[in-house]
Amino acid sequence: MDTPISPSNETVWVNGSLLHEGDVQISPFDHGLLTGDGVFETMVAHGKIPFAFTRHYRRLERSAACFGLSIPDAETLHRACRDVAGANGLDSARIRVTVTGGRAPLGSEKGNSTETVIVASGELPHQPEVTQVVTVPYARNEHGALVGLKTTSYGENVVALAYAKENGAREAIFGNVNGDLCEGTGSNIFIVKNGELITPPLTAGCLPGVTRALVVDLCLAANVKLQQIDTPLNGLTEVDSAFLTSTLRGVQPIASVNGEQLKEVGGEALDKIQAAFGELCKNHPDP
Ligand SMILES: Cc1ncc(COP(=O)(O)O)c(C=O)c1O
Repeated sequence: MDTPISPSNETVWVNGSLLHEGDVQISPFDHGLLTGDGVFETMVAHGKIPFAFTRHYRRLERSAACFGLSIPDAETLHRACRDVAGANGLDSARIRVTVTGGRAPLGSEKGNSTETVIVASGELPHQPEVTQVVTVPYARNEHGALVGLKTTSYGENVVALAYAKENGAREAIFGNVNGDLCEGTGSNIFIVKNGELITPPLTAGCLPGVTRALVVDLCLAANVKLQQIDTPLNGLTEVDSAFLTSTLRGVQPIASVNGEQLKEVGGEALDKIQAAFGELCKNHPDP
């Protein structure tokens, strides 16, 4: 299908149709809006092709299953991502797929209408080569009902990221209820401590990040020893080095924690991982 070029992400895909943003009708009773009863994925597309689509689709399926939501089949969503990037004239883009519970009662009770499915695009945000983080005084609940799911209930992340910005950092790092290192508002974290590469296990309550999983696999393939073990949040300023992973950041070294420079920015393990990740992105669109 030939799609019109629009300069500013005004074209979105909603429930099967490409529409101008201003023509979209979403009910004020949509549970995505009222209760955060929805799930989403953020992907990066190059040449309009979403990277690691299958892994993102599987996570969307798992997140949706918890809410009892149905999602379109993978082929339909893949085409929708390509069509939205194309319609907005974006060769490289961030693509967001959101599925909500649709029209439902005003309270928490689920409705029985069909889901609302939205695919929207945006420009890729600039990512600096290194980043600064702060730990936040709020905990991730590793026992919560939504743990491990990518849901539209992101209010805690909004508050924590604002806290980070107010404190001169670009990402906020959560500990969990047990006081262990967990994740960022939109990223997973890896640390090097006494020479050992460590990332929190999924039982710490972090999102099973697609980039995290790819890095775990790359470490295995490259014989880089990585441990998935709990470490205390309050030890984060003492680590040798650390980095974040996410779809939009890729693999990004952390320069400082709570305003204190880390001993090292980058390092041998990180160099290897960044190189392998770069190669993967270039040569394997759906690893
Ligand atoms: C809370 C949280 N943790 C981790 C991540 C990183 O996941 P991914 O690598 O799949 O982007 C994200 C991504 O936005 C996130 O929102």
